[in-house]
Amino acid sequence: MNHVDRLLLAGVIGWPIMHSRSPMLHNHWFEKNNLVGRYIPLAIEPKNLEAALRGLHPLGFAGVNVTIPHKQAVVPFLDEVSLAAQRIGAVSCIHARPDGALIGSNNDAHGFIRNVQVSFPNWRANAGPITVIGAGGGSRAVCFGLLAEGAKEIRLVNRSLEKAQAIAHDLGGGITPIPWSERHQALGGVQMVVNTTSLGMVGQEELDLNLQDLSPDALVSDIVYIPLETTLLKTARLRGNPTLNGLGMLLHQGPLAWKVWFGMEPEVTQELRALLEKSIQG
Ligand code: ATR
Repeated sequence: MNHVDRLLLAGVIGWPIMHSRSPMLHNHWFEKNNLVGRYIPLAIEPKNLEAALRGLHPLGFAGVNVTIPHKQAVVPFLDEVSLAAQRIGAVSCIHARPDGALIGSNNDAHGFIRNVQVSFPNWRANAGPITVIGAGGGSRAVCFGLLAEGAKEIRLVNRSLEKAQAIAHDLGGGITPIPWSERHQALGGVQMVVNTTSLGMVGQEELDLNLQDLSPDALVSDIVYIPLETTLLKTARLRGNPTLNGLGMLLHQGPLAWKVWFGMEPEVTQELRALLEKSIQG
């Protein structure tokens, strides 16, 4: 890649943004690949979103990742949105193409699935029912990814049942919406549970979920990664279940973004994972 005339530039847009761990991840890849580049956290107020997006190409950005609260708000300002992002209903990554066009995609589903596959190579989405807790943006990506991998039955539990019903409607067959009051029983006979709510995240309430009906072999996964081990994961680990935190979902989205931004896929290494874990624990 010949770029001696300019810095390679990418970033993440959000509001607030300074808590994001993605700059550490992407700047590590610039360094490891001997590239002169920077990945910058861009604090973009919602009222400045359109102007910020219009500025990406002229400023020389290859693109940006998109986080809360912009994942849906960016859509009207994009020239194309991938089919996956349309179905999920959110954009997590924008490519500012050399011709100036802005292309939106969603790498959350891929990041989630890849993390499971790398950590548990024998895992199969169609091996049995899966319970997903939560029906926000994270849940839509997780459900989309699971269905794309061949999941046949997803029990989708949410406090507001109508949001689970909307996902079942939008993503098609295989999803059964389940009321919040039935979440404990919804774990009976499943091969996997995924928490996609913010419950258990630092500063938030705990997720109240009784694992009594859960098989000891079932994989328990959380998309939260601060803390690395939520109370849900700790409880599951102590009763012998395999567990997976949300850090890998963040890590495994990165290579897809780099593919469109810079034409290469950097590696998710143990060294990189340890670097982020240390920063989260610190
Ligand atoms: P994201 O886009 O990150 O997934 P979100 O769209 O705000 O975030 O979704 C947050 C999820 O956490 C939702 O499923 C939400 O439930 P509701 O749809 O009923 O709001 C869930 N959630 C947040 N706080 C909760 C609480 N105290 N009890 C139960 N669920 C909660």
